[in-house]
Amino acid sequence: MQENFSLKAHNTFGVDAKARYFIEVHSTEELIEALNYSKTDTLPLLFLGGGSNILLTKDFEGLAIKLNLKGIHEDLINDNEVLVTAKAGENWHEFVAFCLEKNYGGLENLSLIPGNVGTSPMQNIGAYGTEIKDTFVSCTVLNLENLQLETFNLEQCRFGYRDSIFKKEGKGKYVILDVAFKLTRKDHHIKTEYGAIQSELEHLEIEKPTIQDISRAVINIRQSKLPDPKEIGNAGSFFKNPTIPLPQFEELKEKFPQIPGYTSGDFVKVPAGWLIEQCGWKGKQIGNVASHKLQALVIINATGNATGKEIFDFSAMIIDSVNEKFGIELEREVNII
Ligand code: EPU
Repeated sequence: MQENFSLKAHNTFGVDAKARYFIEVHSTEELIEALNYSKTDTLPLLFLGGGSNILLTKDFEGLAIKLNLKGIHEDLINDNEVLVTAKAGENWHEFVAFCLEKNYGGLENLSLIPGNVGTSPMQNIGAYGTEIKDTFVSCTVLNLENLQLETFNLEQCRFGYRDSIFKKEGKGKYVILDVAFKLTRKDHHIKTEYGAIQSELEHLEIEKPTIQDISRAVINIRQSKLPDPKEIGNAGSFFKNPTIPLPQFEELKEKFPQIPGYTSGDFVKVPAGWLIEQCGWKGKQIGNVASHKLQALVIINATGNATGKEIFDFSAMIIDSVNEKFGIELEREVNII
């Protein structure tokens, strides 16, 4: 257990906020031990995975627990399917790379997403036409009320766009310990529908892509427009893409004919990056914080010295501008601590 511990290396924004106490746990037993300690002291808790989806706006006056549980387990289901279970502390991309090495298909479109396996169900991570709910089978969680283990299946997780039970009723009640995915062993379902993948494959001159080719294409696309958190502090998309009712979209389309939108039933999903860019924020820097020059939806710690409060205030200015111009209230995707 460490006291007044800087969390700079434990959040991808690289914000230098401190935790009153910090401990790293490597097993469920160690986690329970740490929780028993915090109970006697009634300390607030903060669970840290890869730190890729949090914004620390102030010092944390409690116990920060870094979940460093490691291990990957495979169970063959049949000729074509395998159940792969990874512990929460496994790095997401390394886990995807492990699966690709074994030629297990299903996660390739999710290559290079920052963060750890344990936080992937929280917001049902997704990219390039795939979300984890497409291959997710179950996760083991620790119930923080009674310190018992429970299993959540696909239905119980209630996955939605960047959403799950762990962000709603289950918020703060469970710690995810491992996640199991059902992957294919030979009859892979290649997903190239997402526009950018097709054109990247053409660029790579690949006609019949393998899952490894899809991963390569996704990595190329991500690297071409998303900043690497190791180089520039960021947490990926800072906001969700808003979904608005069709009539509201049609009204906006009259005023802004170029507005992009993906219709689903009576609703339309509008790319937040476009809205933010139209408000003049793309590449704009105020103090230590900026909107990324290649993807307006990503807020960056431009100088490396930004505080969480500065980043939060910058995001509030973006929300106000978009609201004023388009009448759409952007919702933050990143967890504000
Ligand atoms: N756009 C702009 N200006 C910008 C950025 C985007 O006009 O600065 C418009 C363009 O019209 C573009 C459209 O937005 O065609 C969509 O952009 P992009 O394909 O980059 O995807 P996104 O909707 O901005 C989402 C996810 C990303 C994910 C990509 C690819 C959310 C909040 N973000 O971004 O996820 O990688 O799709 O599937 O849904 C993340 O969650 O951290 C993340 C990076």
